[in-house]
Amino acid sequence: MLLLNIGQLITVTGGSGASAPRRARLLRELGIIADSAVLCVGGKIVSVGTTKDALRDPWIKTHRNRITEIDCSGKVVLPGFVDSHTHPVFVSPRLVDFEKRIEGATYEQIAAAGGGIRSSLEAVRNSSKATLKARVLKVLRDMTAHGTTTVEAKSGYGLTPASELKSLQAIREAASSWPGTVVPTLLGAHVVPKEFQGCSQKYVEIVCKDMIPQAATRKLAQFVDVFCDEGAFTADETAQIFESAEKHGLKVRGHMGQLSETALAPFFRFKPASLDHMDHVSDRDVSRLAGLDTVATLVPGANYFLGLKTYPDARRFIDSGVAVALATDYNPGTSPTISMCMALSLACTQMKMSPAEAISAATINGACALQMADRKGSIEPGKDADLAVFDVKDYREIPYWYGVNRCAMTILNGVIASAD
Ligand code: NIG
Ligand code: FE
Repeated sequence: MLLLNIGQLITVTGGSGASAPRRARLLRELGIIADSAVLCVGGKIVSVGTTKDALRDPWIKTHRNRITEIDCSGKVVLPGFVDSHTHPVFVSPRLVDFEKRIEGATYEQIAAAGGGIRSSLEAVRNSSKATLKARVLKVLRDMTAHGTTTVEAKSGYGLTPASELKSLQAIREAASSWPGTVVPTLLGAHVVPKEFQGCSQKYVEIVCKDMIPQAATRKLAQFVDVFCDEGAFTADETAQIFESAEKHGLKVRGHMGQLSETALAPFFRFKPASLDHMDHVSDRDVSRLAGLDTVATLVPGANYFLGLKTYPDARRFIDSGVAVALATDYNPGTSPTISMCMALSLACTQMKMSPAEAISAATINGACALQMADRKGSIEPGKDADLAVFDVKDYREIPYWYGVNRCAMTILNGVIASAD
């Protein structure tokens, strides 16, 4: 497959090595090539350069009748988005919570009154794997249409061993019907379910001794996530769960500092791939994070949808040298959007990230947050052929035209999904 006449090719190869997270000023280096072409063979990127050079290339000349040519007519091409934080395994939107919040209730008040995550559990517990698979697949296809090619997908709306494993199986089956790449995460520690309220330690033991070992043995998850916050799991419980993950060979990531500040340093020994939300983080933890490969994944869609006046302090993270990624946090409670472009737009307008920073954060740094930057997140020979073609002339238009989808074509591991 040969993409030709690309107006701006956003390679995201500027500055550092292919798989290192981009930090500080390097987050702005997009490695743009004008009037460019990309050759992909067998689901991999083979060469990247100008259209002129591609048309002169002897190999391309001899094979031209066997190559699928895509004339990009001056459009912008970037690495497919890596959405490194999503919760797609749920059944229904939470419209009552939505209305209550509009009337003034907070996320915490709604959860304490029996709404929130707990109110999504019954439907998942009662649904068949096939129903959940269909939900997830629909989400993956919607994401494709918006330029996303790699998705981290969490369980977390069943919260019994059987329903968490069913959710992970639904993710696996949906992933096998989709040409993109899915990274499954066990979020059995999303919240303490009603039946264990007042005895959360018993639930933590089920997560550690039942869910994690089963997910690991059956290879249903790559990561274990914990919602560590007021009203969810304590730092001590989180450490127990991370220890179990480590023991069973699963990597860890966390929901941290969304509602209240938690000291992050006690978790660094588990080498988390990513710590997410990060609305409330101390200066001391920010400077420690700057020295680590752990990515801070910011999800401004959640702040937007909860109607919060404040957003995570992206400038403080970036200017201190922390590796920052952006994700949708797609879920029914705080962020019902599949659009990475929306996350980018919010990052620019509300968190004062530049369009270039937002694009690096949504591609290469998202790949780092999933420890997949050797394959994903930039357009360079040897990486997977994951590309998004946007019907714009300048990459800055991607976060600029908010609320519309300008993605014209998505290529996932070399497979074309066209918008029309
Ligand atoms: O990332 N904070 C925890 N989990 C989700 C919300 C889940 C829900 O409300 O259903 C989040 O915001
Ligand atoms: Fe989340």
